[in-house]
Amino acid sequence: MSTYTVEDKRKVTTHRLIEMKQRGEKISMLTAYDYSMAKLIDQAGIDAILVGDSASNVMAGNVTTLPITLDQMIYHGKSVMRAVERALVLVDMPFGSYQGNPLEALKSAIRIMKETHADCVKLEGGAEIRESIEKILSAGIPVCGHLGLTPQSINKFGTYNVRAKEEAEAEKLVSDAHMLEEIGCFAVVLEKIPATLATRVAGELKIPVIGIGAGGGVDGQVLVMHDMLGINMGFSPRFLRRYANIGSEIIESVGNYIKDVKSQDFPNEKEQY
Ligand code: KIV
Repeated sequence: MSTYTVEDKRKVTTHRLIEMKQRGEKISMLTAYDYSMAKLIDQAGIDAILVGDSASNVMAGNVTTLPITLDQMIYHGKSVMRAVERALVLVDMPFGSYQGNPLEALKSAIRIMKETHADCVKLEGGAEIRESIEKILSAGIPVCGHLGLTPQSINKFGTYNVRAKEEAEAEKLVSDAHMLEEIGCFAVVLEKIPATLATRVAGELKIPVIGIGAGGGVDGQVLVMHDMLGINMGFSPRFLRRYANIGSEIIESVGNYIKDVKSQDFPNEKEQY
């Protein structure tokens, strides 16, 4: 089995991501929500770790990302930060912590930075939340944008289908992406949009564009760790590549343990004092 570990052990910064784009070096990003998994993916050499609000789904079992709270995101952020030495760590701002109120947005972002020690925050949306993003940036907090399929707006969209297939939505996305760059965001995530549109945005922007379900013409890729490792076994959209089947391995291993306990094979004489 081949593994990839980077030689360059220096801490990854937002500036380094921009340099990577300039060099044409693709950026690797995965989600993590806890100490043990964050330690493993940092050791593997991942460039960036997103403490995503997808924790609401994969850690807490909610149907959407909406219920997760700022306190819960801070808990996940702190757990990840205790493990990470090299990767850039982004923490998602949860639903309700930044929309429609720039001062509230600033307070939420400051709490995330002070309490988790993460490197930056990510939030969803374009022109509608411009003032909130500007306020956060004014405090020197780096912000990553997120456009396309923005799961915090699932109740408005009504489906998790591909976004921006129609011209009007595509043009708004392009204009929002330019706006995010102009006001000072250091990167943008584009989720589940046509590859040609994502390639166009990545070509027009100087800041890195990280895609999920947005094709290979962008500057980097992000996946939810539980999906790509096969822990979340029921989720298999077209854009997802499975790198392991850890869910099946866990079920098989636990099954073997149960069998050994029941048959009194475990513990044996060497496994006791
Ligand atoms: O919360 C999350 O995991 C995300 C990714 C899907 C980009 O925002």
